[in-house]
Amino acid sequence: MEVTNRYITVKAHVEGEPTESDFEIKSSTISTSVQPGSNDIILKNLYVSIDPYQINRIKSHSASHTTSSFAVVITPGETIDAYGVARVVASGNPEFEKGDLVVGMITWGEYCVLKGEYMLRKLDPMGFPLSYHVGIFAFSGLTAYAGLFEVGKPKKGEKVFVSAASGSIGHLVGQYAKQFGCYVVGCAGSKEKVALLKEKLGFDDAFNYKEETDLKSALKRYFPDGIDVYFDNVGGEMLEAAVANMNIYGRIAACGVIAEYTGVGKRAAPDMLEIVYKRITIHGFLTSDYMNLYPDFLSATVDYLRTGAIQTLEDISSGVESIAPAFVGLFHGANTGKKIVKLADE
Ligand SMILES: NC(=O)c1ccc[n+]([C@@H]2O[C@H](COP(=O)([O-])OP(=O)(O)OC[C@H]3O[C@@H](n4cnc5c(N)ncnc54)[C@H](OP(=O)(O)O)[C@@H]3O)[C@@H](O)[C@H]2O)c1
Repeated sequence: MEVTNRYITVKAHVEGEPTESDFEIKSSTISTSVQPGSNDIILKNLYVSIDPYQINRIKSHSASHTTSSFAVVITPGETIDAYGVARVVASGNPEFEKGDLVVGMITWGEYCVLKGEYMLRKLDPMGFPLSYHVGIFAFSGLTAYAGLFEVGKPKKGEKVFVSAASGSIGHLVGQYAKQFGCYVVGCAGSKEKVALLKEKLGFDDAFNYKEETDLKSALKRYFPDGIDVYFDNVGGEMLEAAVANMNIYGRIAACGVIAEYTGVGKRAAPDMLEIVYKRITIHGFLTSDYMNLYPDFLSATVDYLRTGAIQTLEDISSGVESIAPAFVGLFHGANTGKKIVKLADE
């Protein structure tokens, strides 16, 4: 039997801000059987993750291409791999059978054919929605957990600031920090997002950075006694303002610089004198370096969810047509929580 697979490609490398017209939907016919004895596996994709880092893969040059096996360059016209949940259609690999639910690197498309070595494992949903295994139980959750605890190293009672706080990673960072006993302030790009952080997710305070004309004074207002840990998702001017408000021995977990990815924002130029005299650590990290924490992270997060101590925000749209708008929307704050595209019913 054969099926039609619709998938997303990028037409050419994109150096600036992405637009929907940079992408196109292609289709191909794929056989739903595999060569006996091969390691090939055919998957029907159910949920795929939409992540900012793909912008760096779409550029012709980026530091990500040579430093992370997850973030190598994307060749225009080819399929785009992404994390997701899928169902096995056919498998030559004895570890998987037709009908199995799996999670790992799939593609921005309706089906995918994986050959050779691939990153995939059988999925036990543990009673949670499948989408959770693309968001909170996947890289977003582990990034928040590892970045906060291993990189930010908060102590109870310390003051934590998180940017892009209503996003996939940010909303979890704030909640983990609250559970740990920190004072947490987040910033986000709309009054609705700010209300969500304060009223639903238990942040001590939050503000709309787009309404602030002077970010340094804004942070001084929210942290009159200084910031101990800054979980940085954005870079740019917010990083400069945070450095100016950090306490002595403050730690900055440099998770991402979304304000700088598309080249339209100002590159951060933090005051080095502040960094030296306040002995501030700015520590860039990749979640893939912290896979050893996965069992601890998973058990803590499952407990928190089951007891209602934390909750997760998801922003799910449907169909292969919604992948490009979902991705472009990340750079305009269109998402609240983890952006996911659902491709088929479970
Ligand atoms: N180090 C790692 O291993 C690792 C792993 C995953 C992700 N990351 C990074 O972590 C960051 C957050 O990723 P995520 O998946 O959780 O995305 P996300 O926060 O769910 O989505 C991106 C959010 O960033 C905000 N944003 C967009 N452009 C901005 C700008 N110019 N200035 C300030 N804020 C802007 C928007 O929210 P507002 O409405 O608040 O503006 C948007 O909703 C990204 O920088 C990403 O690359 C790093």
